Amino acid sequence: MLQNDRFLRACRKEPLDYTPVWIMRQAGRYMKEYRALREKVDFLTLCKTPELATQATLLPVDMLGVDAAILFSDILIPVEAMGMSVVFTENRGPVFPEPLRTEAQVKALSIPLPEEKTPFVIDAVRQIRRELKDRIPLIGFAGAPYTLATYMVEGETSRNFHQVKRWIYQSPGWLHALLETLTETVSLYLRSQVEAGADAVQLFDTWAGMLSPDEYAEFSLPYTRRIIQDLRSAGSFRGPIILYINGGGTLLEKMADSGADVIGLDWRIDIADARKRIGDRVSLQGNLDPCVLYASPDIIRAQARKILTKFGSGSGHIFNLGHGILPDTPVDHARALVEAVHQESSSFHE
Ligand code: CP3
Repeated sequence: MLQNDRFLRACRKEPLDYTPVWIMRQAGRYMKEYRALREKVDFLTLCKTPELATQATLLPVDMLGVDAAILFSDILIPVEAMGMSVVFTENRGPVFPEPLRTEAQVKALSIPLPEEKTPFVIDAVRQIRRELKDRIPLIGFAGAPYTLATYMVEGETSRNFHQVKRWIYQSPGWLHALLETLTETVSLYLRSQVEAGADAVQLFDTWAGMLSPDEYAEFSLPYTRRIIQDLRSAGSFRGPIILYINGGGTLLEKMADSGADVIGLDWRIDIADARKRIGDRVSLQGNLDPCVLYASPDIIRAQARKILTKFGSGSGHIFNLGHGILPDTPVDHARALVEAVHQESSSFHE
């Protein structure tokens, strides 16, 4: 039994005393303790050393008082395990020196068995669960197939995603073949996290917001749906599944069709509108602009209250930012947000 299960209760729309909150990228460079870890090892080593990944995961739990922990790792870890080399650079973020350019490269990719290729993730989940001592739930995660494909085809984070869109219109068969391989990879990968003790999982389809509704319906949604069905039909997993898209405001109804229990929102959409559109079917997570955390604690509190008011009364809301916390955010401001959400939200619950 968890001491604080508010996050899980909100995912299931069960009654609560206040709204739970966690922060995307809550373990990151904005914390000096994280930067100290990174002075000793590079990012991939941090991800691949369960002891260190556990330390990173627990930093924001102890320092911010969030209501959920999230595994410290990266969505590109299983992609590397498929046989693609990835480099994390200081300025450009992740880079694939040899992005996919041919069908032969797609066919050469393997579907990694998590026990063999990413055992450090399984060990990290186990160790985090042990060290959390049932204080709060642990969220596991993976990238959704379309978003992982964008990195593999573009070679890095892109502004306009022209390469992957070229595949959509010039060689859709290659893209579907790639998405098939990714779907099997992500299914196995998430199942390994759940079996190791993750209480919930989040699928990051960060860049699917660049797709038209029809493109989304063909190149992302079916694969996301299959991963969710697979997690459920494997029998044992009953925990919440969260689907996040940056720029998903145009896709909300389709996202809710995925079978996810919770839909993660960015800041571009009014959460009152999102609740009207899909709030009877799913819980909502979000959706404060990360830049609000540049403001003073008073303003952070007022902005948090605004979102709580827009969502309105009752359960079914997990407070979060609309995208990852920025590296130049003051830690005190992140702490102020958590405190403000806890205090200001109680009037919206029985
Ligand atoms: O939320 C958490 O605290 C858990 C850890 C986590 C990381 N990445 C750690 C990380 C999670 C859930 C992710 C997901 C991720 N990774 C996404 C989806 C969510 C999103 O932000 O859109 C994406 C697109 C990636 C790919 C990725 N990894 C990018 C674009 C970058 C560079 C940007 C940056 O902030 O540097 C990374 C690197 C990365 N992933 C860092 C961290 C803490 C920074 C690495 C460092 O220490 O230098």
